[in-house]
Amino acid sequence: MEEREIGIGVVGFGWMGRVHTSSYRRVVEHFPDLGLRPRLVVAADVSEARRRQAERVGFAETTDDWRAVVEHAGVELVSVTMPNSMHREVALAAIAAGKHLWVEKPVGRGVEDTAAVAEAARDAGVLTGVGFCYRFAPAVQHARELIRAGEVGDVTHYRGVFLADYANRPDAAASWRFLRADAGSGALGDLMAHVVDMTHFLVGPIERVSGRTATMIARRPRLPVGEGTHFSRVATDDLVDVENEDWAAALCEFDDGTVGSLEASRVIVGPRVRMRFEVFGTRGALAWELERMNELERSRLSDDGADEGYTTVLAGPGHGAFQAFQPGAGVPMGYDDLRVIEAAGHLGAIRDGEQREPGVDDMLATARVLEAIERSSASGAWEAAR
Ligand SMILES: NC(=O)c1ccc[n+]([C@@H]2O[C@H](COP(=O)([O-])OP(=O)(O)OC[C@H]3O[C@@H](n4cnc5c(N)ncnc54)[C@H](O)[C@@H]3O)[C@@H](O)[C@H]2O)c1
Repeated sequence: MEEREIGIGVVGFGWMGRVHTSSYRRVVEHFPDLGLRPRLVVAADVSEARRRQAERVGFAETTDDWRAVVEHAGVELVSVTMPNSMHREVALAAIAAGKHLWVEKPVGRGVEDTAAVAEAARDAGVLTGVGFCYRFAPAVQHARELIRAGEVGDVTHYRGVFLADYANRPDAAASWRFLRADAGSGALGDLMAHVVDMTHFLVGPIERVSGRTATMIARRPRLPVGEGTHFSRVATDDLVDVENEDWAAALCEFDDGTVGSLEASRVIVGPRVRMRFEVFGTRGALAWELERMNELERSRLSDDGADEGYTTVLAGPGHGAFQAFQPGAGVPMGYDDLRVIEAAGHLGAIRDGEQREPGVDDMLATARVLEAIERSSASGAWEAAR
């Protein structure tokens, strides 16, 4: 296939800016037939140290002004990898300039922001990718195929959790993630967004929820924007109020009456980054978790009832995009690899001129569930989630 260059701009060179950039650099190596070769044109960050880092990894230009990225004539695709409060403004400006988007979840601070971006992208015919990267784990792709093929029978119930420990101590920094104006919700937008999207991906749309949110640590040390990460711990007496939830949970119901439960925490002690699902059906069950992302647990009912319980399937060629990374089953892949697969999917969409999943519309469906959980926590009633 003939190959052409595609100019890349990145806005926000923190954790995700680095990860997106790494994906652009690696995608040609892992997907040689992609037909598009990313060129690192310009990166923006308000932090000088992060701009220097962007130069070191190959950006031709850097700037402290995000508008210079979205308006750059050499940029065709913009990664929006900054705090949630900036997603809407930057995404709308990029869309107005005719650029395609790879925007991080949760695409703004709630349904209103996400819907504005979704509508503008649709009107402009701009293609969007949203960072629901866990869909791309080969073991998850395999799980979805097994569910679609009826291997678990009829799905009867579902459990999804994201139990993260990044803020389980009182001296864990109040990064932008803890402030309403910067982030919107807390554990909901940060972690539950992934849980809900995975649920939609595997089982289908959530119709209604009964939710509860809670904040366990009310005040935390301040962390200036552009310094540290949300894993940082800070020794200071300069404390700020935590403005959003540390924990959220919900019972959920799908349109066919299937039921499930969802939970997200950023203050758990024990699990580190335990995003996990279990899908239970009439004939079998599947379970997966991020801490062991190359393993799929599988259980099947047998006629004599012998040897039931979970057994482990190791990801390998034939599961999702595994073969683009390793030639033999069981050789572990990592988080950054999922982002390379995600980049290949989105670049492929741009090459073909067609919107693929996950895009901003998928985030909008998820944002509606997240807001329904918040509403339900306040009202004490079941709330519609679509
Ligand atoms: N998909 C995933 O797995 C995943 C994981 C982590 C974060 N995220 C999402 O990615 C986004 C970024 O998160 P992060 O952890 O990389 O945050 P971060 O704090 O590490 O990085 C954000 C960067 O944006 C820069 N920035 C802030 N305001 C700016 C401005 N006005 N102009 C230019 N740069 C600016 C900061 O200096 C910082 O370097 C968030 O929306 C988050 O929800 C997604």
